[in-house]
Formats: sequence, C-alpha cells, structure tokens
Amino acid sequence: MKHQIIADLEQRYTAKRYDSNKRVPQEQLNVIYEAIRLSASSINSQPWKFIVIESDEAKERMHRTFRNKHQFNQPHIKAASHIILFAYNPNYTREDYAKVVDKGIADGRVSPENREQAFGSFAFAELNTNELGDTSSWTKAQTYLALGNTLHVLARLGIDSTTMEGVDSELISEEFSRELDGYQCDVALAMGYHHQEEDYNVNLPKSRLELDSVLTVL
Ligand SMILES: Cc1cc2nc3c(=O)[nH]c(=O)nc-3n(C[C@H](O)[C@H](O)[C@H](O)COP(=O)(O)O)c2cc1C
Repeated sequence: MKHQIIADLEQRYTAKRYDSNKRVPQEQLNVIYEAIRLSASSINSQPWKFIVIESDEAKERMHRTFRNKHQFNQPHIKAASHIILFAYNPNYTREDYAKVVDKGIADGRVSPENREQAFGSFAFAELNTNELGDTSSWTKAQTYLALGNTLHVLARLGIDSTTMEGVDSELISEEFSRELDGYQCDVALAMGYHHQEEDYNVNLPKSRLELDSVLTVL
C-alpha cells in the first residue's frame, strides 16, 4: 500500500485558478503558521518574516504590485484565500543572532553562563556575509526551507497552493515597506481551494524526473 505521505505529495500540485468563495478555516491557518515558525534554518538563525495577506485591503495592496510584471500570477491575489510573503533579512548581523541566543536561554536550551559560547555558531553566518554585509544568498535560502515545509503541510491538510517567484520584489518592497522593515520578499505563496472548472492544472498528471536520475544511494 502507498504511504500516506507519498499519496499526499502526489495529490498536491500548483493551483492555477482559485475559487474565490472558499476560505481556509482559522484552525488550519493556525496549524500552518505554527508549522512555519517551527521551520528549520541554518544555526537556527530564523532570518525571516512572514507577512500574511488576508484582508481585502491587503489584497488590494498586493494586487497593485503586479502592475509592471508577472500578471499571470495576479488573479490569485484576490481569488485565493491567503497569500504569504516569505521575506528574508538581507543583512543578518550578530544583533539578530543575539535574539536567537537569548530565546535559546529563555527556552532552557542554552544556559545563561554559556551565552558567549553560543555565539560560536555565528561564524557560519560570517562565512556567508560579503564585504558589504550582505547575507542575501544565505538568508534567502533559509526562507525556502520554510516555504518547502509550508508546501508539505498544505499538502497534508488538503489545501491548494501556488508558489510565486513571479512577483515584483521592488514593488512589494515599496508597497509593504513598513511591514517588511528592510526585509526582502522574492517569493510568495497563495493558498486556498482550486476553481472546479477553471484550474487547468488540477487534472494533469504529476511529472518528475525518474528517481535514479536524481538520487544516488552509495
Ligand atoms: C520556487 C518556485 C517558484 C515558482 N513560481 C511560480 C510562479 O510564479 N507561478 C506559477 O504558476 N507557478 C510557480 N511555481 C510552480 C512550479 O512551476 C511547480 O511547482 C512545478 O512545475 C511542479 O509542479 P507541481 O507544483 O504542480 O507539482 C513555482 C514553484 C517553485 C518551487
């Protein structure tokens, strides 16, 4: 018998049209948000912000950011139930990591006398920081872990979604500058329930490269 995880992952797909009458129930949203928070990241850096577009007003603002490009994704903004902006800190610093260390102390994972020692792992962040203090390629990679985790959780909850790298990062930075507070959003995720007649992707078979062409067991 097929494992339930595989069945769920085979059933998930990228929705191309949403039913604007359906909304994700709050208790499932709470599961999704908590799952996002629990996402793993390098040195537990958590260099991210997740901005949820829920209200009509927020959707209107997000809708406006498609005026220059990627209009193929624009219909999802008003029709999908929610959109999550996955944003990363482009200049992750020791002060940012101090919040992680101090939360580790508060959570009983790090003892207060080992606080200084706990900053040892920050060397890994430094390795991924260029001469201008830019950590983007490293911190952005962390947001994709949260994204992948979210896709899996949505698959298991039976909620449809559309990952969108087709977003205008510059206009999002302008429109949501207050909320982003210097963080950068290069990818967003629409979620909801597909439109029964108009989602041309729903009945297409899943297509992936063969396992032996991407996986080597030694
Ligand atoms: C990082 C990333 C960015 C993507 N950007 C878009 C996008 O802007 N618009 C879209 O319709 N699909 C987008 N997709 C969906 C992919 O095309 C899709 O996941 C892939 O073809 C596999 O199909 P499936 O998700 O239906 O299994 C994106 C997927 C990922 C993982």
